[in-house]
Amino acid sequence: MRAIQIAELDGPQAAKVVEIDEPTGEDGMVLVDVHAAGVAFPDALQSRGLYQYKPAMPYTPGAEIAGVVRSAPEGAHVRPGDRVVGLTMLCGAMAEVVALQPERVFALPDQLSFEAGAGILFNDLTVQFALRTRGRLTQGETVLVHGAAGGIGTSTLRLAPAFGASRTIAVVSTDEKADVARAAGASDVVLADGFKDAVKELTGGRGVDIVVDPVGGDRFTDSLRSLAPGGRLLVVGFTGGEIPTVKVNRLLLNNVDAVGVGWGAWTLTHPGFLQEQWAELQPLLASGAVPAPDPVVYPLERAAEAIGSLEDRSARGKVVVAVR
Ligand SMILES: NC(=O)c1ccc[n+]([C@@H]2O[C@H](COP(=O)([O-])OP(=O)(O)OC[C@H]3O[C@@H](n4cnc5c(N)ncnc54)[C@H](OP(=O)(O)O)[C@@H]3O)[C@@H](O)[C@H]2O)c1
Repeated sequence: MRAIQIAELDGPQAAKVVEIDEPTGEDGMVLVDVHAAGVAFPDALQSRGLYQYKPAMPYTPGAEIAGVVRSAPEGAHVRPGDRVVGLTMLCGAMAEVVALQPERVFALPDQLSFEAGAGILFNDLTVQFALRTRGRLTQGETVLVHGAAGGIGTSTLRLAPAFGASRTIAVVSTDEKADVARAAGASDVVLADGFKDAVKELTGGRGVDIVVDPVGGDRFTDSLRSLAPGGRLLVVGFTGGEIPTVKVNRLLLNNVDAVGVGWGAWTLTHPGFLQEQWAELQPLLASGAVPAPDPVVYPLERAAEAIGSLEDRSARGKVVVAVR
């Protein structure tokens, strides 16, 4: 089968199309003919050996797929021919065939394309976990999201209203990214430079209830300062490169929380959680209450460019690779 392979940890440009053996699908796995695979920031980090999970070399990148079931074990909840999305967690997705654990395979609503489907799981399930489980989002609250034109960012803008947020404030680095955030549903958009003052003005001095932060770095303290009393800052990632430190007196003085969001780790310690998440998200996607992602699609041959667009910050919205 055709697959992307990374043989040296030189960064995204090391991603090449190769011919490798198909997986066999033994031991209770679901075999899926892959139509599209999602690209996420960990793919860029992994290509330089900078991610916490380090696959054996050479490896095939990609954590999520959409495709059609080729075979499934007895008693599985999916059957051959079903349109599905699935998680490889955290590599192996950019290949024509993948073998997945049944609990990491989910029925794709008919009205969603494979490209949109490949852009759902990794970000939407993280954001759902962030807003609902860790962030305790309630009806009528305001959610601010950094990196709002990125994968986690656009996912937050799509999901937050369906989970009760009455307002979303997108933080982006350029005017072009502001358009991407608006298209994803942002109520308001502000530039990263000076965002604290802009948010203060937008909220009449009150601040926001939740900050979703996939960026980290020097924005962190201003994010804490942007929280209303009882607010929660959700620590999702560090695309800005630096892991910030927090002076905990700020938490005490303003009655705010800094909350860790480690979705992958949670799924490992909570069997059945992924299927519970899908049971909540799937009807929202099927009904259109949560709009489908509208990804930028690259052909398989340009997977290096697709992964590179996250590393060099040029990506607009979710990025997906068409596999067949
Ligand atoms: N905790 C979890 O369970 C979990 C799960 C999934 C992903 N994540 C993490 O979430 C983060 C975001 O992932 P993603 O797939 O949404 O990435 P993405 O699509 O590349 O978006 C990241 C955004 O970060 C901003 N950014 C700021 N400084 C940057 C820099 N130096 N380089 C690149 N981007 C920079 C960019 O927005 P502006 O240009 O507008 O600033 C960009 O749009 C990653 O750290 C990822 O590992 C965590």
